[in-house]
Amino acid sequence: GKVAVLLGGKSAEREVSLKSGNAVLAALKRSGVDAHAFDPSERELGELKRDGYQRVFITLHGGQGEDGTVQGALALLGIPYTGSGVLASALAMDKWRSKLVWQAAGMPVPAYELLDAASDFAAVAVRLGLPLFVKPANEGSSVGISKVKSVADLRAAFELAARYDDLVIAEQFVGGGEYTVAILGSEVLPVIKIEPANEFYDYEAKYLRDDTRYLCPCGLSAEQESEIQRLAKQGYAIIGGAGWGRVDFLLDAAGKPYLLEANTSPGMTDHSLVPMAARAAGLSFEDLVIKVLELASA
Ligand code: DAL
Ligand code: MG
Repeated sequence: GKVAVLLGGKSAEREVSLKSGNAVLAALKRSGVDAHAFDPSERELGELKRDGYQRVFITLHGGQGEDGTVQGALALLGIPYTGSGVLASALAMDKWRSKLVWQAAGMPVPAYELLDAASDFAAVAVRLGLPLFVKPANEGSSVGISKVKSVADLRAAFELAARYDDLVIAEQFVGGGEYTVAILGSEVLPVIKIEPANEFYDYEAKYLRDDTRYLCPCGLSAEQESEIQRLAKQGYAIIGGAGWGRVDFLLDAAGKPYLLEANTSPGMTDHSLVPMAARAAGLSFEDLVIKVLELASA
């Protein structure tokens, strides 16, 4: 049956989503699937039903599309869609509340505090140490994130993040390396190590520059890698994640992993991580896309 690839949308990650969506659309077509692009910022989701779509591949990032709203609408329309349902999508998009759930379940997360305009920024810097990260709770692709090295820069970083969300998080810097793990059905793909050339893995490093190093195999011991994979699977299951997704980690200097965030609609651009991990596991981009589609449920 006909498959709609949801792409674009209105979030700050619209451009990334167009890239992901077009890559997925092309791969589905190459695989013989009757797939079409559908941008919910231009059309009503109800048209999916009228136009006879039988499944939806979601490649929207951020905002509506990754936060559970589109998932809820599709559930009401009774059209099966790829990836997580309403609850996991909403939780993963909110980096504060996903941390709260993980902490309650005993999962390791970096120390953090919520910031507001009245926060004592100097005291926050003392408690969390410098440098630290400031980020909007509900964004992806590192939009609105700053690495803050001095107390004097903390307010500007707060104000930048606050442009994207009412909830702003200050997070301890965990400096032993950034890693990511893709989940595909019941499988956990090989861990990727990310080594950005600039200060952190920001929007530029993710999509615009070609100087980030991606290591897969990631260079950790087999025990460490499987520990991170175990935490990824468990962390994703705790928030109710389904189908596929990606969990990001930081390691401290001693090699202890901390869960950073879960992404329920991971990037599928030519710079993206899940396709890279899939390749390392012997799956082509087409194989990956078909597998994700097959995992779609109502
Ligand atoms: N939010 C971007 C698309 C990612 O997680 O890959
Ligand atoms: Mg993210």
